[in-house]
Amino acid sequence: MRHILDIKDLSKEEIEWIIKRALQLKAQKKIQKTLDEKYVLTAFFEPSTRTKISFQKAAMTLGAAVIDFTPESSSLQKGETDLDTILTLDAMEFDAFVIRIRRNNAPAEFSKYLKVPVINAGDGTNEHPTQALLDAVTIYESFGTLKLNVAVVGDINHSRVARSLTELLNKFDATVRFCGPKDFVPTNFDGVELITNDLKEAIEDADVIYALRVQKERLEKSYENIDEFFTKMQINSNTMKMAPRHAVLMHPGPFNRNIEVSDEIVYSERSKILEQVKNGLYSRMAVLELAMGVSNLESVQSRQLTMARL
Ligand code: CP
Repeated sequence: MRHILDIKDLSKEEIEWIIKRALQLKAQKKIQKTLDEKYVLTAFFEPSTRTKISFQKAAMTLGAAVIDFTPESSSLQKGETDLDTILTLDAMEFDAFVIRIRRNNAPAEFSKYLKVPVINAGDGTNEHPTQALLDAVTIYESFGTLKLNVAVVGDINHSRVARSLTELLNKFDATVRFCGPKDFVPTNFDGVELITNDLKEAIEDADVIYALRVQKERLEKSYENIDEFFTKMQINSNTMKMAPRHAVLMHPGPFNRNIEVSDEIVYSERSKILEQVKNGLYSRMAVLELAMGVSNLESVQSRQLTMARL
């Protein structure tokens, strides 16, 4: 078994295996129940639609029983701490924990106490590794390589998705650019070629335009007309013309219509947004198999050989 806490901790070979396994599962008509008789706990201390439901369906498709911990109706409301909550649930003998939480590095902290895998489903502004993995599956499926130009546009400073995706793309020699309004982009960032407030400069030779939502729930100060900041950098049918014709639009969701992305582009031919959601299901099946050590592909050694072409 292994914890899945961040992208840094995953080897290039493991990421390649997850991509290949996710696409293999997506192509299968009947999926083998590799998690039969296992129990998976989903504990989402922060809201989620895509990550929570896709993890639950992924685990159930592989034959596991899934129990969802709901913070609103739990003893957290009586003052129990998040760590004591996790230790209490662990005493009930689950085989894996999928955790989303506001506190940076909390899943890593919990993993020190648990003898079963902890999968980070997003911790604060720190990491969202399975989002980066499903994005890699979507990019690889679209282009056959990850060695591309990727422009990440929007609120980078509060985005755990930008952090995980950049870390992953760097492992595969992609070129990453950041673009966003001042105050929402860092001054420098390891592994990022260009940081700019100029949308054209960021996307004129991009293969992938990766739009991000402003994380209003994580802002440290208030801004007047904050939506206007982002509307100036909106990805719409006009701004898409600044990018090469083959460039695709991605977004982790949820998106704000007509703020960072326009109505007419969200589900257009150039948009991969719903494909990302679909790939999330298969990527999370692969992640659960890797974390729980039940993969039916033989060994890391043979995975490396099989994946040498990626
Ligand atoms: N992308 C993402 O994490 O979406 P949810 O918050 O809906 O899970």
